[in-house]
Amino acid sequence: MEIRKSTAADKSEIETVHIQAFGEQEGPEIAKLVNDLFEDETASPLLSLVAVRNGRIVGHVLCTNASITQTDESLSVQLLAPLAVLPEAQNQGIGTRLVREGLSQLSGSGVALVFVLGHPEYYPRFGFSTAGIIGFEAPYPIAEKNTDAWMVVELKQGIIGKVKGKVQCAEALNQPQYWHE
Ligand SMILES: CC(C)(COP(=O)(O)OP(=O)(O)OC[C@H]1O[C@@H](n2cnc3c(N)ncnc32)[C@H](O)[C@@H]1OP(=O)(O)O)[C@@H](O)C(=O)NCCC(=O)NCCS
Repeated sequence: MEIRKSTAADKSEIETVHIQAFGEQEGPEIAKLVNDLFEDETASPLLSLVAVRNGRIVGHVLCTNASITQTDESLSVQLLAPLAVLPEAQNQGIGTRLVREGLSQLSGSGVALVFVLGHPEYYPRFGFSTAGIIGFEAPYPIAEKNTDAWMVVELKQGIIGKVKGKVQCAEALNQPQYWHE
């Protein structure tokens, strides 16, 4: 299996991955979000990686530009969303490879913090931990029962504890419907 940056030619296969992974109800909305983020200037710089097996895209992860308001520190921050693997390819380590490669490339380009709103059982394996209790507010309030789904990982040592504030995401993602877990 190969992990590589996506190209414009991958657009419809990427849509299929999200529609199938997130299901009929949520999938089309997530696929549209991905396309909107590709077009959104405020999402740039972004990192879009696909997992390709036997010539077919089986997984996709998107990371887009974000920032932290109320801080003087100029930090490079990204938001990881969404991540999806085709149902028949799940639980084979593909999501893990996409996240690890994504974090490695972001680290190489100087990104300091990566945020995610996701499954609290999944992301800690990559170093993510709860972001709210260490002073990072999500773009929209997260329901109390889901506070552990809002997570952050530090790619540059020494940021957590020094910086706090509200995370501002790309415009396409800055809609309340994307901020429930
Ligand atoms: C979540 C997802 C991206 C994981 O990708 P994957 O390739 O199946 O995951 P991997 O094979 O790398 O890792 C498997 C691990 O993920 C866990 N996992 C899979 N789906 C999960 C979920 N919905 N919640 C929590 N953990 C999950 C598995 O239990 C397994 O855990 P283990 O290693 O402790 O046994 C994939 O299942 C998916 O696309 N799900 C539907 C879309 C979705 O929910 N995306 C949002 C992610 S926040």
